[in-house]
Amino acid sequence: MMDFTKTKGQFYLPDGMIYLDGNSLGPLPIAATERVSQMMTAEWGEMLIGGWNKAGWMAKSTGLADRIGQLVGAPKGTMILGDTLSVKVYQALASALELRPNRRVILSDNGNFPSDLYIAQGLIASLGSDYELRVVDPEAVADAITDDVAVLMLTEVDYKTGRRHDMKALTTKAHAVGAIAMWDLAHSAGAVDVDLAGANADFAVGCTYKFLNGGPGAPAFIYVADRLIEEVRPAMSGWLGHQAPFDFDLEYHPHQKIDRMRVGTPPAIAMAALEAALEIWDGVSMAEVRAESIALADYYIDAVEALDLGLTTITPRNGGDRGSQVSFSHENAFAITQALIDAKVVGDFRAPIVLRFGITPLYIDRGDLDEAVSRLAEILTSGSWDQPQFHARSFVT
Ligand SMILES: Cc1ncc(COP(=O)(O)O)c(C=O)c1O
Repeated sequence: MMDFTKTKGQFYLPDGMIYLDGNSLGPLPIAATERVSQMMTAEWGEMLIGGWNKAGWMAKSTGLADRIGQLVGAPKGTMILGDTLSVKVYQALASALELRPNRRVILSDNGNFPSDLYIAQGLIASLGSDYELRVVDPEAVADAITDDVAVLMLTEVDYKTGRRHDMKALTTKAHAVGAIAMWDLAHSAGAVDVDLAGANADFAVGCTYKFLNGGPGAPAFIYVADRLIEEVRPAMSGWLGHQAPFDFDLEYHPHQKIDRMRVGTPPAIAMAALEAALEIWDGVSMAEVRAESIALADYYIDAVEALDLGLTTITPRNGGDRGSQVSFSHENAFAITQALIDAKVVGDFRAPIVLRFGITPLYIDRGDLDEAVSRLAEILTSGSWDQPQFHARSFVT
């Protein structure tokens, strides 16, 4: 059995705060402060440009990606870090579409994160032809996988409800009709037991600032199945994806392997923080984190429902059908979330009526959830959420 008190001790959490928002931004790994400081002084400060070789900054884009690969079932050499997730969605989608030149349909669902859909819409506008983004209900995806689909583009775990798609079944179905399967793992990596190779996924992308705790704006990752990599034309063909970038050849020739999905200069400072965050996973089994996440979420849902607070559970009750978050709906979700944050229980709000709580066993335990439920009950039963300051909206919710 995993001892999660050890991992909890590796995070900085402000005094008295119950942090249930690791599905949006993971907390600070204590070691990251020292690591970033050391990187800045001993590496950037002392080595300057030499850091790219001597400190191995360039190689960290693949080295750290391989570490994440262990958590999502990606064999070594099939993932690389860089850019933001939205950029990686563009790159994967554009590259995937080119693999099916005679088809014109991108199939997605209305539980997908808007950025993925916006990227698809923007790409279609650039392609300027008869491409179509077909968006169906999540429950209708399987039946909508028809032989005109070029790319099935889905986010495995719904950011709002926490519902989880069956990656293997849908990928198999996509392949059966000749489509490419592309998965967004933003709410999966470090949260659920993903097996990209086992599911035979073609492309995957994800971020490292949520359940992987890499810090705000930490670099994204992209996965391309090894069987496809030499066929894939990286839609954004930046100089570092070239097979010999320092030849400064005027013609683009992609790197033979996953490095072709690099675009430009990697964010070395951000990768230092991410490196420290990933070390927390050493000796931690994803299967045990997943089992604990299911148990904690069940515990939380049961406790909230038992109090009959007027919240409706919208996350699937069956652990296998959800990610690592619990969502409730309530018509005053925004103000309740603000009142909760004021009471030092940090979850978040997703328009129009969803309260979300990230369940992260690395640093959240049953005692935290008991405290969160008691503060939530107090806010709802007293009606203290209904004060003007809790109705005022900031840009980031
Ligand atoms: C599923 C999903 N895809 C894409 C994004 C966009 O990520 P980024 O802002 O890092 O580009 C997010 C952000 O939360 C997300 O949850």
